[in-house]
Amino acid sequence: MGRFAYVNGHYVRERDAEVSAFDRGFLFADGVYEVSAILNGRMVDNDLHLARLDRSLGELQIDWPMSERALLQVQHELIRRNRTKEGLIYLQVTRGAAPRDFKFPEAAVPSLFMFTQERKLRSSAAARSGVSVVTMPDIRWKRPDIKSIALLPQALGKQQAAEEGAFEGWMVDDKGFVTEGTSSNAWIVTHDGVIRTRPAREGSGILAGITRQSIIRLAKETGIKIEEKAFTPAEAYNAAEAMMTSAGAFVVPIVRIDGRPVGTGSPGPVAPRLREIYLEMADEQTRRRPV
Ligand code: PDD
Repeated sequence: MGRFAYVNGHYVRERDAEVSAFDRGFLFADGVYEVSAILNGRMVDNDLHLARLDRSLGELQIDWPMSERALLQVQHELIRRNRTKEGLIYLQVTRGAAPRDFKFPEAAVPSLFMFTQERKLRSSAAARSGVSVVTMPDIRWKRPDIKSIALLPQALGKQQAAEEGAFEGWMVDDKGFVTEGTSSNAWIVTHDGVIRTRPAREGSGILAGITRQSIIRLAKETGIKIEEKAFTPAEAYNAAEAMMTSAGAFVVPIVRIDGRPVGTGSPGPVAPRLREIYLEMADEQTRRRPV
C-alpha cells in the first residue's frame, strides 16, 4: 500500500498506521466519523460534514482533536499526498486512549485518524442500472443522529443484504416505517412526482445525511416537490421510484425492494435527474472552491 494515512500528528504509510489498543474507539466504539466525497481532487460539501462532526463531538462531549482550520489543512494535505482525484476521505475522532473504565477518563487526548480511498463516483454501474434493497428490522441504538463509529448493526445489515443479493439494506422501525439504509438515506418518489424522505430532526431515527440535505436544496431549486415524511416498505413497493443518497454513492436509483420491482423496474426519470443535478453542483463546487 503506497498511500498515506494520518494518525495523531503523523502522515504515515497506511500499513504503519497505528493507535493504542487502549483507544476507547477500540474498546467502546467511543468515537465519531465523517466521510466526504472527493471530486476533481477536492472535497464536496466538506463544510457541512465538519459542521456535523462538530455536532456529533458535542453530543458525546469529545473535544476537537485540533482546531477546525487545522483539521481542514490535514484533510487537504492527505488528499495532496495521496493524489486522490476521485474517491473518499474518511476521518475518525475518538475520545482517546485510557485505562479501561466505562465513564469518561479525566484526561484523555482525542485521537484523530484519516485515510483516503480511490473510488469511481462519477460513473458507477449501480447508478446506471439501479440497485436492489432488502428490508430488515432497525436494531440500532436510539441516537442514529450521532455519526458514531459503533456500526455493528449496519455491518450485519449490509452483510445480510449482500447474502440476499442486494446492494443495500433498508432498516425498518418498530412502527413499520423505513428509517434509512445501513449507510445511506432512503427515498421514494410518489406517482405525483413528489420525493419523500423521513424527517431528520433529533429523535426522528436517522442520520441527517449531508447528501440528503443538498438534494433537498437542489430539488427545491429545480421545482421538484419534497415531502419530509416517513414511509412504509409497502408504500415503497408501490412507489413510482425509489433511491438512496450518501457521500459514497451520491444518488443511486433503487429498482427492486424485497424482490419486487419498483415502478417500471428500471431507473428514472427522477432519480437519474437528481443525480445529474447533484453532480453538476459537486463539479461546480470542486472546480471553483479550494475545499
Ligand atoms: N454513510 N445514513 C447512514 C446510517 C449513513 O451511514 C450515511 C453515510 C448516510 C448518508 O449520509 P451522507 O449523505 O452525509 O454521507 C445516512 C457513510 C458514507 C459511510 O458510513 O461510509
